[in-house]
Amino acid sequence: MVEEQDGARRWPRTASPFEKWQDAEGLPIYRGSYVEDMYTLELKPWPRLGQLGAFVMLAEQEEDAGLVTEIRPGGQTEPQHHLFEMVIYILDGRGATSFWQQDGRKQTVEWQRGSLFAPPLNCYYQHFNLDGSKPVRMFSVSNAPQAINLYHDGDFVFDCPYVFKERYRADDTYFTDPGRSTGTRAWQTNFVPDVRSFRLEEWRERGAGTNMNFRLGNNTQMAAHISEFPPGHYKKAHRHGVGAHVIILGGAGYSLLWFEGEKERRKVDWLDGSVLSPKEAEYHQHFNTGPNHARYLALRFGVPGVGQGHSNQNPAWMTPDEIDGIPYEREDPAIYDLYVAECAKHGSTVELPRPQVAVPRTAS
Ligand SMILES: [Fe+2]
Repeated sequence: MVEEQDGARRWPRTASPFEKWQDAEGLPIYRGSYVEDMYTLELKPWPRLGQLGAFVMLAEQEEDAGLVTEIRPGGQTEPQHHLFEMVIYILDGRGATSFWQQDGRKQTVEWQRGSLFAPPLNCYYQHFNLDGSKPVRMFSVSNAPQAINLYHDGDFVFDCPYVFKERYRADDTYFTDPGRSTGTRAWQTNFVPDVRSFRLEEWRERGAGTNMNFRLGNNTQMAAHISEFPPGHYKKAHRHGVGAHVIILGGAGYSLLWFEGEKERRKVDWLDGSVLSPKEAEYHQHFNTGPNHARYLALRFGVPGVGQGHSNQNPAWMTPDEIDGIPYEREDPAIYDLYVAECAKHGSTVELPRPQVAVPRTAS
């Protein structure tokens, strides 16, 4: 039994099907709002994969789930297939993944640190570490909690023979096609070789910077985007539904987290390898205090052109102007003051001009 807070009362409830499945897997479960360093996060042997793993269950939600896995030098995972969508980011190392439908031909794609891809729904796949001297680490986000809670049966989710031909037909160019633009800051592909060097498009609405949204593996729920912003700048505060996992790819800085009406903001310092996940309706704002551009990758709900308005990403309480965030001139001046102090601490120059705070008109 677990307890759930509901206002001032605590209600006992039984564990969800996903929680029961997760407990039975025997892996560490990391909770909270962030993991500081996924490169060094302690993992445990995971019989399902034949390698190491840990769950990353951030932001007090059971809609999507993070997972860090490690493959020993020269090692390989057990083959797997499942009835949920997943997006995989290679934190470190070099390797390859083979994909095949039941009784179908195998196709293999090689990857490296920074690669991004999504196993097609229920397609078999097996990862290989091609480096005999160094482990591979990967971070994935999936909607496994939704699938396991829907069917109440982990075995079914991991052992269903159905072949989804619309999701994957083993086309020769499936993983080699670099993809195509499908609209403003939207890209459809099945494999991104390196998220650190992928060319982004300008996006100024949420502050100076660039961005690109990805549809991968014919997914309809789990998507990704990359954002980058220059030194001396910070993004506008914004909020949305749960499930976005923000992975820092480079640069130095911090994020602030708070709920409407809160005076105290939680500060999370980050660097390459940190992952942060805001809670439902929790404001979050990202600050660059380093000498270089800060780039991050978000694994989240909401596929460009398919499920961009996914209810987990854009719930009904959101107003349209919340997508662009709180305008600088309407934010608490303490936010800029803290940024100035943090940049001074790191020896960097603030480029964003001090916002001219809008003064409410008095009746005359
Ligand atoms: Fe966000």
